[in-house]
Amino acid sequence: MLNDKMAAALNKQFNYEMSAAYAYLAMAAYFQRANLAGFASWMMKQHQEEIAHAMKLFGYIHDRGGKVELEGIAKPQVDFASVREVFKKSLELEKTNTAMINDLFTLAVESKDYATQSHLKWFLDEQVEEEKIMHEVLGLLDIAGDDRAALLTLNREVAARTGGK
Ligand code: FEO
Repeated sequence: MLNDKMAAALNKQFNYEMSAAYAYLAMAAYFQRANLAGFASWMMKQHQEEIAHAMKLFGYIHDRGGKVELEGIAKPQVDFASVREVFKKSLELEKTNTAMINDLFTLAVESKDYATQSHLKWFLDEQVEEEKIMHEVLGLLDIAGDDRAALLTLNREVAARTGGK
């Protein structure tokens, strides 16, 4: 059974994953408004991944005898200055998430909660991937620079995004 501190921390992480899902949905909406369907599709996939991450925690808290606490989700940023700003914010979001998962893991170690440590290993690996893809897209956006044709090509290419967990 989860101890109270661990259960509260896992619920906080569940809320963050749901908040991230909402933030990515707002980014998808922004790209749809800008007629950038490829980037919109990319963000929709990201949104769905975050829901899946949240639900992994939802199931785990319940499986370990904890109580799932649903808290409010703040309004996300809905307007952005550029495609680059969206991905810059995405990277910040993922870095915060990585720091939170690291803190969760530390708590699980301090609590000698071996099952939670095992469960969190998936999230530690996933965060490496999440930060990597944000860096990759930002790198491509840097190469495209102010070239609108290059940006439209990138918009088409990112639509083909597959994989992710
Ligand atoms: Fe749930 Fe983007 O990490």
